[in-house]
Amino acid sequence: MSNIDFDLVQNLYKQFSNSAPAKESKAEDVITPMPFHMANEDMRREMWTETGNLLLQQGAVAAFTLAGGQGSRLGFDGPKGAYDFGLPSKATLFRMQARRLMNLGAKAGKPVPWAIMTSPLNHAETIHHFEDHSFFGYNRDYIRFFDQGMLCALKPDGTPLQDENGNYVEAPDGNGGCFRALAMSGTLAWFVEKGVRFVFLCNVDNALVKMCDPTFIGALASNGLLPCAAKVVHKKNAQEKVGIFAYKNKKPTVLEYSDISDELRNKTLEDGSLEFDGGNTGMYAFRMDALRKISTQELPWHVARKTVNGVENCWKFEQFLLDAFPFLGKILPYGVEREDEFAPVKNATGSDSPESARKMLGTLHRYWLEQAKVNVKPGKLYEISPRLTYGGENLSQEVFDRELGRGIFEFDA
Ligand code: UD1
Repeated sequence: MSNIDFDLVQNLYKQFSNSAPAKESKAEDVITPMPFHMANEDMRREMWTETGNLLLQQGAVAAFTLAGGQGSRLGFDGPKGAYDFGLPSKATLFRMQARRLMNLGAKAGKPVPWAIMTSPLNHAETIHHFEDHSFFGYNRDYIRFFDQGMLCALKPDGTPLQDENGNYVEAPDGNGGCFRALAMSGTLAWFVEKGVRFVFLCNVDNALVKMCDPTFIGALASNGLLPCAAKVVHKKNAQEKVGIFAYKNKKPTVLEYSDISDELRNKTLEDGSLEFDGGNTGMYAFRMDALRKISTQELPWHVARKTVNGVENCWKFEQFLLDAFPFLGKILPYGVEREDEFAPVKNATGSDSPESARKMLGTLHRYWLEQAKVNVKPGKLYEISPRLTYGGENLSQEVFDRELGRGIFEFDA
């Protein structure tokens, strides 16, 4: 017996076929930029780090990775987290996330609970990847996988799409499904059992992600009024495919790159800089009560017209995590330097590719070594295992000499 929610998809079809998809905001909407400060220029920074570390020591911080997407732009036939993007260590995105969390857990004296959301399309492969690598040494009691929901795709005429065997063709319900799935899978309750009070949530594909960054968590924790925080970068250029943090009718929101008008995208200030400049990095922190609140809410649906199973112009419905922000009403936009924290692997070549991510990681880790007064070779890039450092600390010439070829690797751009 199928548990596909035909009523929901039929209702969505009716709703979207009777009105033009909300590509742009309505004329009466008042949209203003969301200003943000760079965290590394904030005098409270050290205090935030101390607070975040204390919370980690208490076991009050968890990580939550969104890994249910299909990664179609990258063209990799497997879960994106299992992608080896060509570093000397052959680390996959999942391994890097695991090892960074293990570094923090070791310092805190407590493993960090880690939830990973997959979809039924990549769940088994994701588990195999972890099993094949003995879960990267992660404490099995502190890691948990669960599936997001799926929705049936519709043919252009609004009838359910079926494959050649008569099975309904389903697709993941979007990363906004994460809140519902977190609760329905029992993972939210698992967090509560573990004593979690803050959850760091991130995309699977950022090679520089600072998992559960203590400073970031500490910043949210230190601001008792705010339900959530998001890491924001200055946009590279108007065309960069990132969501933009803004206020819509005074409520915080992310204007998704696929949904905004060219006018807004290209709007500049007098000095020529972009007016809507706050790029979404896909790294967020939530208080537990905020997560609980959203998990019982119905976020809006978005529609995409796509080729599914060879049938052109099918209807696919998705929810976006970003729609939680207007609902929560307040957010802390936390500015970070792109070079330190944001190297997404989205495309096979060009920007946001394996090559650009390798280069960014290699350059950052070289910088860490230079800061530690290590003699690095001109023109070379470096990869440092998260076993040795989380964010550039604990490095020295002695560590370098001991670890070169083991935990530190030299490579060419
Ligand atoms: C996303 C953000 C965008 C941000 C960018 C930063 C959304 C809707 N958009 O865009 O604002 O600037 O990241 O890199 O979040 N996922 C699921 N289930 C799904 C669909 C996606 O778990 O059904 C996961 C993916 O595995 C990924 C994350 O959500 O980890 C983001 O999805 P992706 O499709 O890569 O979003 P982008 O378009 O890159």
